[in-house]
Amino acid sequence: QTLNGPGNERYKELTAELFNTAVFENTLKWQPLAGDWGGGWTVDVASKGVDWLHQHDIQVRGHVLVWPSWRNLPRSAKTLEKEPAKLRAAVNAHVSELALAMRGKLAHWDVLNEPFDNHDLMDLFGDDVMLEWFKGARAADPNVKLFINDYAILSGGAGDTPHRDHYEKTIKFLIDKGAPLDGIGMQGHFGGALTGPEDLLKVLDRFAKFGKQIWITEYDVDIDDEAIAGQFTRDFYTTLFSHPAVGGILMWGFWDGAHWHRNAPLYRKDWSLKPAGEAYRELVLKTWRSNEQAKTDAAGNYKTRAFLGKYAIKVTAGGKTKTVEVELGVGSAPVVVKLE
Ligand code: XIL
Repeated sequence: QTLNGPGNERYKELTAELFNTAVFENTLKWQPLAGDWGGGWTVDVASKGVDWLHQHDIQVRGHVLVWPSWRNLPRSAKTLEKEPAKLRAAVNAHVSELALAMRGKLAHWDVLNEPFDNHDLMDLFGDDVMLEWFKGARAADPNVKLFINDYAILSGGAGDTPHRDHYEKTIKFLIDKGAPLDGIGMQGHFGGALTGPEDLLKVLDRFAKFGKQIWITEYDVDIDDEAIAGQFTRDFYTTLFSHPAVGGILMWGFWDGAHWHRNAPLYRKDWSLKPAGEAYRELVLKTWRSNEQAKTDAAGNYKTRAFLGKYAIKVTAGGKTKTVEVELGVGSAPVVVKLE
């Protein structure tokens, strides 16, 4: 989304209403930052975007430090093809410099993107080179969670595929070699072959065995039938939300007016809501938000179950009222509110 494009205000308003994690589609990629896409792509623009998102309580994923194929590396990298030592150093310098420039601002970094079919750098230097990128990112920003990311892991129906087998092998390799890998990204772009809930759970279990958080990093569903896309989005979010290893789901855009396939999950170009948008709003804004009113017992205690997240608790007694803001996390302590 351009900073001043038409629809920008509505886009920002909905971003703040609908999401608590965001990612820039292109701004932190190496090619645009290197100037290959023309002017205007800078770390400064990204930082301003992050500041705006933080002001709206939205954390940010960084995408992406290394996308290791010639077609996704900057032209300046390709010119070093015959000088491998320089090329290797240039990639490592990019990782360190960008991670340092964004230090403290990001919740996640996709360190490595799409290794299944983007492996020119691994072909040149061997698979160990991937460790250097993870270690470099960790050294530059010790608190950001470091991810690997790939596509065709959740899409395409059930069973083993070369893409899934390769992802499993690569993750195991990184862990065995001591890479500081915190999370597993599954893009989640769907075209024709929609994967049903049972098969999604099987894939998730297969990757959950590594004991890392799984994030769906780029969800969208590019089919013409809006009703089916809506049902699929409902089932997809419900299934993913139910799995203990899944930390979150990001959409790769939500509006047809700013989407790489002009077919975004939630809103048509005229801002009317698609069936998937209705399903998303129902689940995320209603079903998965706890909202209740109750009386305490005589001792002033009240116990309930609620979805994780941020809450305002308003307590009234003896003509006095107090509201406290709390974050409910896994294993949070009881909340004590004193009316004085
Ligand atoms: C895409 C962007 O959406 C396009 O605007 C850009 O021209 C090319 O890249 N997997 C990824 C993303 O990891 O970075 C890709 O984004 C979509 C597929």
